[in-house]
Amino acid sequence: MSVAPWNGSKAKFIATMTDNCSLEAAWSYHNATKHSPASIRANRHSLDWDNQPLPFKIYPTLEPLPLPGEVRQTGVAALSAIAESAPLQTSCVPDLEAVAQLLYLSAGITRKRKFPGGEIYFRAAACTGALYEVELYLVCGDLAGLQAGVYHFAAAEFGLRKLRAGDYRHTLLEATGGERAVAHAPLTIICTCTYWRNAWKYQDRTYRHFGWDNGTLLANLLAVATALGLPARVVCGFVDAAVNRLLDIDPQREVTFSLVALGDIPNLPSGTSGELLPLGLETLPLSRREVDYPLMREMHAASSLHSPEEAQEWRGHTPATELPSLAGPFIQLQVLSDAEMPRDPIEQVILRRGSSRQFTHSSISLAQLSTMLDRATRGVPADFLDPPGAQLNQLYLIVHAVEGLASGAYVFHRELGQLECLKQGNFRADAGYLALGQELPADAAVDIFFLADLQPILQRFGNRGYRAVQLEAGILGGKLYLGAYAQLLGATGLTFFDDDVIRFFSPHAEGKSAIFLVAVGHSAKHKVG
Ligand SMILES: Cc1cc2nc3c(=O)[nH]c(=O)nc-3n(C[C@H](O)[C@H](O)[C@H](O)COP(=O)(O)O)c2cc1C
Repeated sequence: MSVAPWNGSKAKFIATMTDNCSLEAAWSYHNATKHSPASIRANRHSLDWDNQPLPFKIYPTLEPLPLPGEVRQTGVAALSAIAESAPLQTSCVPDLEAVAQLLYLSAGITRKRKFPGGEIYFRAAACTGALYEVELYLVCGDLAGLQAGVYHFAAAEFGLRKLRAGDYRHTLLEATGGERAVAHAPLTIICTCTYWRNAWKYQDRTYRHFGWDNGTLLANLLAVATALGLPARVVCGFVDAAVNRLLDIDPQREVTFSLVALGDIPNLPSGTSGELLPLGLETLPLSRREVDYPLMREMHAASSLHSPEEAQEWRGHTPATELPSLAGPFIQLQVLSDAEMPRDPIEQVILRRGSSRQFTHSSISLAQLSTMLDRATRGVPADFLDPPGAQLNQLYLIVHAVEGLASGAYVFHRELGQLECLKQGNFRADAGYLALGQELPADAAVDIFFLADLQPILQRFGNRGYRAVQLEAGILGGKLYLGAYAQLLGATGLTFFDDDVIRFFSPHAEGKSAIFLVAVGHSAKHKVG
């Protein structure tokens, strides 16, 4: 492994570690952005349609290089692709076609729908409010069909805009404190999030959405990488300012949230990163005016890393997340074997996906639920999940209509492959209430909540652990979406009343925080293709 030298001093390292370790920032952001019936009643916010942000970042002075439009058929079953990772190989380098495939199936426009005021461009992964605040950038060496450079993915034109010519991978390697996957990656995709694009609707809560929406996108990206035989690793430990500077983004508006190192080569060619000059490129304004929500910028600053040493120190050593001692009764999952499971390929399933807008009350089978849970939770390759297979979130379920499973509340013991029943009963009305009074979770077959014990997570990872826990939930939630659609079921992400969710699952869930929710069932309108 080649590790780039860095200049940070020990004194600076300790000072900045203290910032990320002052955990009041994450706790106060989390508490301030909880939904409750009272917070919803008190919120006077309404949507200013005349000021709706543009859903794309556009550099008007740069011509996009078109990406190949043909979707390569990998034929790899979606239920395999979401569960597995490609093994490390001596040489595994994506070509331009593979790059196009990765971008299209994670952030490309897959559907358009006209409505009285305009048109919505739906993208490959689910995103809160269809506001698509996640932008993708590429940092690569020379690839077949693509010269070394820094590029922005222009989703609207399905092309790449070159921001910098040349190989800047050493800048990322340095920023990550010599992360192994980055040191061996022919290509790293950088995911940034734009505050205003999502805060227009969701205000301060948008920082949570960064993790969710980046996560669902990464679920697709990781699955497609696996299907293409590309090793992939999510990297969240990096010096924020260094990566933002490489992209020349304005961190008051747009910030780097995650990196994904893709492919595997013996080592980066030797070299160091020179000084980065600002690009000063014009971008189209998103709206006539933007409203600032400082709480999110404060949360971001308090979870930023400032030196490569700090980034290196940050990754790994995931705290064990233990569930309270077992009380039962228990139900063993009935996971379909590779031979039994539906084999619809990942690209077909991604194109089929679209959040359910209505569920029928009809049942799903225990095998369908089991397969989905099992396949979605076999581990995410990420720098904050070590040993491999570690998981920050725990899954709690409200079962309404699963054949062979009594209706009620459950907790999922991943390592045992079992569901533990916490209470039996018909909780459709409770589920509807918990998700802000929406009908979707009341009508679904099962609602899957992600809960996390933030205390040990923040203790280990500092405020940045809050980014990691939201991102992991988004990735697992995105995998559940794909696991549902692979079995011709429907799914939708949902938002929730934080403390009421914990109360519902308590005493088992006492002390935890509600992070994410996805509902699964039979869609009233089913789309096959
Ligand atoms: C984390 C998350 C939370 C969501 N919350 C809700 C919700 O509370 N209510 C709802 O109707 N849809 C919700 N959605 C669905 C989005 O509105 C949907 O993903 C978006 O409109 C894009 O459409 P598509 O998923 O069909 O591509 C959520 C999606 C995600 C990823």
